[in-house]
Amino acid sequence: MTSTKVTDAHGALVEDHRRLHGLVKRLREAQEPAELAAVLSELHEALTRHFREEESPGGLYDALGVCVPEFREQLGEMVDDHYRIAAGIRDLRDRVQGPLGGVPDELIGEARRLADHLVWHERREHELVDAAAAAAKG
Ligand SMILES: [Fe+2]
Ligand SMILES: [Fe+2]
Repeated sequence: MTSTKVTDAHGALVEDHRRLHGLVKRLREAQEPAELAAVLSELHEALTRHFREEESPGGLYDALGVCVPEFREQLGEMVDDHYRIAAGIRDLRDRVQGPLGGVPDELIGEARRLADHLVWHERREHELVDAAAAAAKG
C-alpha cells in the first residue's frame, strides 16, 4: 500500500469531513435543549459511521499504518479517541434529554469542549495524511 492509498482513503472522506464541520458549527451554536439533543443525535450517528469507515480494512487508518508503520502507535490513540468522542456525545445527549428547563451553562460548556476535541482530532488526522505524503516523497 502506498501514499496513493492514503490519498484515496482520505479523499473518500472529504464529503464526510465537510458534513461533520457543519454539525460541529451547529453544536457550538445550539442553545435550546431540543435543538442541542437533535444535533448531538445527528452527530453521534454521523460519527459512528465515519469512525467505522476510518477504522475499516483498507480505510484511512489502515492505509496510514501500512504507509508509515511508525504511525501505528498514534493511530491506536486515534482509535481510542474515536471511542471517547462518540461516548462523550452520546452521554451528553442523554443528559440534555433529561428533565431540564433549559440547557445549563455546564452542558453548553461540555458541548463546546466536545466540539473542540473533535476539531483537534480531525486536524491531527490531516497532519498524519500530510506527513505520510511527505514521507512517501522521501
Ligand atoms: Fe478519526
Ligand atoms: Fe476523520
